[in-house]
Amino acid sequence: MDTTNYFEELDDQDLTETLIAKGKRPARTPAPNPKKLAEPLRQFVHAQDDSRAAFKFTYKAARFEEGWLLNSLGDFYEHQWISDVLRRVKGGKEASVYLCRAGAEVNAEFIAAKVYRPRSLRNLKNDHAYREGRDNLDNEGKIVLDDGMQHAMQKRTEYGKNLLHQSWIAYEFTSMQVLKTAGADVPEPYEMAHNAILMSYVGDLDGCAPTLSEISLERAEACGLFERVLYNIDLMLSKERIHGDLSAYNILYWDGALTLIDFPQVVSPMVNRNAYSIFERDVTRVCEYFAKQGVKANPRKIASDLWKKHDYRFGPEIHPSLLDADDERDRALWQKLKGR
Ligand SMILES: Nc1ncnc2c1ncn2[C@@H]1O[C@H](COP(=O)(O)OP(=O)(O)O)[C@@H](O)[C@H]1O
Ligand SMILES: [Mg+2]
Repeated sequence: MDTTNYFEELDDQDLTETLIAKGKRPARTPAPNPKKLAEPLRQFVHAQDDSRAAFKFTYKAARFEEGWLLNSLGDFYEHQWISDVLRRVKGGKEASVYLCRAGAEVNAEFIAAKVYRPRSLRNLKNDHAYREGRDNLDNEGKIVLDDGMQHAMQKRTEYGKNLLHQSWIAYEFTSMQVLKTAGADVPEPYEMAHNAILMSYVGDLDGCAPTLSEISLERAEACGLFERVLYNIDLMLSKERIHGDLSAYNILYWDGALTLIDFPQVVSPMVNRNAYSIFERDVTRVCEYFAKQGVKANPRKIASDLWKKHDYRFGPEIHPSLLDADDERDRALWQKLKGR
């Protein structure tokens, strides 16, 4: 479905909110005329009209945003995972996160709904670097084995693109499940749908928790939190996962505790040939933030030590200075690198 118009409308809405905040009167954006919309989008707009009666929410959404929310969150409402959408807490490049009131099925007051922009995830730069060696997952988080579906994804048909979009979301959801069970500091994942994930909400009614990038820490506290991030990175490695986009922008801080978020691009240290460089970059970005808070560390050494601890193979980008001359496997790798 081509929803470009929808997002133009949404972006207008973002601008409108900004102008109102500045006390300016925005130019009125006329409501789109369904007759002028492309056929798939027209069906989409009309399809929303029936379900609207049942699912009404407090959040005042722009016209198309409302349609998109009904489409993305309708199932969650029907199954009583959420009872209301209260506000949009973050609008990002790839997804928007909404604060929802939890429904009867969830033992919590609030819940976060991450709703993806249409197929936004496939626009990730170098997405093949992340997808390398990675199976595609279906809407239940199972590996896609069906020939027709695989063909559609390879050929990048419309259907195939939708399947790939679903696969990114499934990776985010299933990774959170595995990591939460392992005891990592990640939100509790509740449910996933074709375009959204429900998870525990970090924050309060006034807004979501800040990311580390938004705050400064006292050195003493920063030391403890840095250790905690490393603990999580180590735990992720033990579950064969590398975050792939870890930085102060994807770590929330609330009541002195951290929560790692944003997992669609997770990478396997076993099968992805770029794994080590992606891993080292994650560790480096984390160290860069904590260096600004007064915690000095050597990211290359930390990354290399953690990698070796879990016995993963170093990829082609490994720097020779990180190899251990006393380690037989490292010596063998060194011979191999020299021979290229
Ligand atoms: N579980 C959550 N609770 C509270 N806020 C969240 C939660 N998950 C995400 N957010 C907020 O939404 C923003 C975007 O979410 P994220 O998963 O990082 O998606 P994106 O791909 O758009 O960066 C985050 O930076 C954070 O501010
Ligand atoms: Mg993010």
